[in-house]
Amino acid sequence: MPLLLLSVLILVTQPLRSLGTEMKTYTEKTVPDACTLVLCSPVENGLPGRDGRDGKEGPRGEKGDPGPAGAMGPKGPPGARGPPGLKGDRGAPGDRGEKGESGLPDATALRRQVEALQGQVQRLQGAFNRYRKVDLFPDGRGVGEKIFKTGGFQKSFQEAQQVCRQAGGELASPRSAAENEALQQLVTAQNKGAAFLSMTDSRTEGKFTYPTGETLVYSNWAPGEPNNDGGEEDCVEIFNNGKWNDKSCGDKLLVICEF
Ligand code: GLC
Ligand code: CA
Repeated sequence: MPLLLLSVLILVTQPLRSLGTEMKTYTEKTVPDACTLVLCSPVENGLPGRDGRDGKEGPRGEKGDPGPAGAMGPKGPPGARGPPGLKGDRGAPGDRGEKGESGLPDATALRRQVEALQGQVQRLQGAFNRYRKVDLFPDGRGVGEKIFKTGGFQKSFQEAQQVCRQAGGELASPRSAAENEALQQLVTAQNKGAAFLSMTDSRTEGKFTYPTGETLVYSNWAPGEPNNDGGEEDCVEIFNNGKWNDKSCGDKLLVICEF
């Protein structure tokens, strides 16, 4: 407590002391320095002459020395902003964060996500079905996962095979009655007598295989076929009645590819 009281006392008396010093300075400066000059001369001389006229203007004085440097001018406005500095070094890694929640989203959030996905899949399915119909009309047929499509033109077996592979498919390989019927429909719709199938017996005469080398899982030979007529029938044609005949690969027949 006494220390606080002393601090207050010093704070209060400090301004009073400086005020006293100012008053003393003022008093000293108000007393002016006084001096009177008296000139004396003999009385027998005449009366003082009249005031003379003003003399001529004297010659112009020499040019004075340059005066002292003026005071510093006011501070100018700030300059334009400089270019950005170089990128700083990478900072130290931060502190480890708080322990997070379980990585598994809750059941409600999952249900909502599944419902949203179901909606999206449904819309995609609808759009896909429409485009499938567009694509199959009028030269295609869909059987299960398989799609047959005819180019509408006729080519030799080798050229036909090339066309289908170029398109990312393969010549038609009917592996069921349903697939065979779809091909029959396409041949008929194109007003053609026959179309090439993919199978040949080029490797082993009398043994027809798919391009993969696999032996036939389905066939629909016309009566008496295959007969390797003339000893040069390694390819297979499908007639517009759906029946098969072994035929020369050099003939030009309707091209039907499968995808
Ligand atoms: C006849 C034969 C058939 C043969 C064809 C050749 O239709 O019945 O087996 O492939 O002629 O053009
Ligand atoms: Ca034949």
